[in-house]
Amino acid sequence: MSEKLWGGRFSKTTDEMINEFQASIGFDRRMYREDIAGSLAHAAMLAKAGILSKEDCAAIEKGLRDILAQIEHGEFSFSVELEDIHMNIEKRLTDAIGDAGSRLHTARSRNDQVALDTHMFVRHAVVEVLGSIRELQQAFVETASANKDVIMPGYTHLQRAQPILFAHHLMAYFCMLTRDFERFQGVYARTDIMPLGAGALAGTTLPIDRAFVAKKLNFERIYMNSMDAVSDRDYILEFLSAASILMVHLSRLSEEIILWCSREFSFVELDDAHCTGSSMMPQKKNPDVSELVRGKTGRVVGHLMAMLTAVKGLPLAYNKDLQEDKEGLFDAIDTVKFSLAVYAQLIRGMKVRADVMRHAVEEDFSNATDLADYLVRKGMPFRQAHSVSGQAVALCIERGIWLADLSLGDYQKLSALFEEDVYEAIRPETCVSCRNSYGGTSYEQTAMQLNAAQELMTEEQDLISALTKKQEVL
Ligand code: ARG
Repeated sequence: MSEKLWGGRFSKTTDEMINEFQASIGFDRRMYREDIAGSLAHAAMLAKAGILSKEDCAAIEKGLRDILAQIEHGEFSFSVELEDIHMNIEKRLTDAIGDAGSRLHTARSRNDQVALDTHMFVRHAVVEVLGSIRELQQAFVETASANKDVIMPGYTHLQRAQPILFAHHLMAYFCMLTRDFERFQGVYARTDIMPLGAGALAGTTLPIDRAFVAKKLNFERIYMNSMDAVSDRDYILEFLSAASILMVHLSRLSEEIILWCSREFSFVELDDAHCTGSSMMPQKKNPDVSELVRGKTGRVVGHLMAMLTAVKGLPLAYNKDLQEDKEGLFDAIDTVKFSLAVYAQLIRGMKVRADVMRHAVEEDFSNATDLADYLVRKGMPFRQAHSVSGQAVALCIERGIWLADLSLGDYQKLSALFEEDVYEAIRPETCVSCRNSYGGTSYEQTAMQLNAAQELMTEEQDLISALTKKQEVL
């Protein structure tokens, strides 16, 4: 007979290489807190249902708490032989307290156990990610508020397009992060479902009380279908997809930061503490953080693809393929949290070169739309105004000057509608403050965004605090 917890029907011990191949303890040990919390709730339920004696339950509880302390003090040695975190803990418990320990797995399978642990782990991770998203949002709001009047060229096709407020540009990222926050809230809602009690796949013959376990572990809902409970990995797919979209946002930001701190742009300067140098070129100061975040985005997107592919084509219910859900998930959690935290620092430490941005706005034609809008206000149809403004730009290019340098006489040759006030109309400040349509770049609209952001962040904090409380199950 094999030594394994499931060894009864086996006449040989597991091949050593196979043991190593199929073990998940190398990574699922991260879920020890969830595993212990789940077992404590399960044991309490078994006792309440009269399936386990009070004495056995007390012994299990004490034994599990001892194991928790051992793991946290680094005194627990994990064994590959015992495959995963579930059997490592159960075997240690049984070694410590005897028979009572071997009653713990009553009415439970590792299939619903691992599902329970992973649900709790993801729930916890989501709350941490929400906190990190909010922290980066805060950094954007602070930097935008500290640079309220800074004007920069806004781009389309990476060509200077129209003058905008730097704060408006930063707040676009705030808004992207707001959607990320909402998406992760959605992930939370669909992770907050209790699978335990599904057994291996079909439920159990014993009189368990799933609602009791759900309440103990602060789950909002219980899986209605046991087969769905053990084979659902949608919440992991959703986590990975929300994480991928978030990383794509950070990657776009990275690309801009990298451009902005290039010599060619020089719009911002990163803090020395946030950059690295070159081993050969003494002058270099490289934006590694942004490059790495851009690079790591591929990794997270890859984890999503790997998981979608792993689940595709799986018959119900549990299949060992599903063990592949954890490594990519854990890596995505770490990557997202780290990237957000690093970016909050980077944004806060960034020096904004208002002078350079201002210069960039002056030395370009990004006020050409405003010149056309000026003529529209004087009654000219927009298509015609567009053409006149284009002719003014062509004239300037020919002479090597900017729109502000063109004489009133030259303007009036292009259209009799031009008057002295055209110069005021094409000043960068005017261009910005006049874009006062809702959500536009004007000072007023940007201030509106900053106010709304403060309110939103207060709501976000309330939600994070409430969810943090719900996580306290150990
Ligand atoms: N380590 C496994 C996993 O992560 C636990 C469930 C295994 N169940 C089983 N019957 N082999 O998926």
